[in-house]
Formats: sequence, structure tokens, C-alpha cells
Amino acid sequence: MRQPAKSAARVDVAVRAAVQAYVQGGHQDWRELASFCDQHYVRHLVDESANVEMMLICWKKGQASRVHNHGSSHCYLTVLSGGVEELRFTTGDTPLESEPTLAPRLPGVIAATSPCPLLLPDGVNHVCVGTTAYINDSMGLHAVRCDDAACGGPGAEEGAVSLHIYAPPIRRVRLYEPEADRVVTRAPGFRTIRGVEEEDQMDASLLSSTL
Ligand SMILES: [Fe+2]
Repeated sequence: MRQPAKSAARVDVAVRAAVQAYVQGGHQDWRELASFCDQHYVRHLVDESANVEMMLICWKKGQASRVHNHGSSHCYLTVLSGGVEELRFTTGDTPLESEPTLAPRLPGVIAATSPCPLLLPDGVNHVCVGTTAYINDSMGLHAVRCDDAACGGPGAEEGAVSLHIYAPPIRRVRLYEPEADRVVTRAPGFRTIRGVEEEDQMDASLLSSTL
């Protein structure tokens, strides 16, 4: 982070307090924006400005993101229903030369490079309703997945619903794909924006699971 430590600490306290107040207030308005998809998790933009964006991500049981960075943004993650697991990774100290490679022909894909650096596991956080996790690029990478054991039960959602705050908004994300030995750069997308379905449902579906 390039920001002065004191300034970053003040923002950190303010964001965590605001999130905590929202969760403890028992607000349910987010339910109008939340919807799930059988094929993959989906992102719903709640609101954004030049400095910050807020979104819901809905995870059915078994759904997970790929390992990704956060485009030099601050990333706060909390849970509104169920639970998620955050799997942290680092790429160690070894700088690796990377070469352009064939990028997958999917909406939002900007570029791809190879090889994929070695991903070293760096801990697992269980994020439940009311707890807040934080990451930025200087801390490493992460993948997020539905904590199946924390979801379900009578009257519960069909999976987990998490709330994400990114400052500034993430316009480019790097997805680490060790199975294909590449790193893909994509523009993130959404299934819905402020409650309105994106027009091209096929593209929106693919773009909404970019992180
Ligand atoms: Fe993330």
C-alpha cells in the first residue's frame, strides 16, 4: 500500500465499523439483489463511485473462485448469509519471466501469460456472518469458496452470500490458472448492476464469475 499507514488504519477502522453496524443492524435489503446460478458463483454490483465499489457475491455449495489478485485495490470481504473460506497464497520470492500466450476466447479476457508462478498455500480463513477479512496485493493472492458446512438449514439461503468492498473499483484482475500454466487478465463483470440484469445474459454469466 502506498498510503500513509495512519491514513490506511483510519480507513480500515471506518470500513470495518460500517460493515459491522450493517450486519448487526439485521438489514435484509441485500436479499432483493441476491440470486444464485447453478453453473458458477455470481457477482451483483450494489453500487460504485470513482473511489469504491460494493458488490454481493452469491455462492452455491461447491462453488469457488480461482486464485486471483486485486488490481492494487483494497479488498474487504464479509458474509451476510452462510459462510465462505478464504484460501491465501503467495508466489514466493522467485521472479519468473513470463511470455504472452494464447488467451482463452471468452468475454472480458484481455491477455494471458505463461508460466503460472508456483502458488504457495499461506493459510485459510473461515469468514462467517459479521466477520471481516481484508487483503491487498502486497499481502498475496487468494481464492474464495463456499463453506458448505456453514450453509443450509431450515430457512437458510441455498448457499453463501458475501459482501465485498473494493477501493478503488477493480478494473483488471489477474487469474492464476496452474492447471493451464497461465495467468489470465480479465475485466470483471456482473450478473446484475444495481438490481438490473445485464442485457447480454450469456456474457454477463461468464463475466460475473471472473474473480
Ligand atoms: Fe478476492
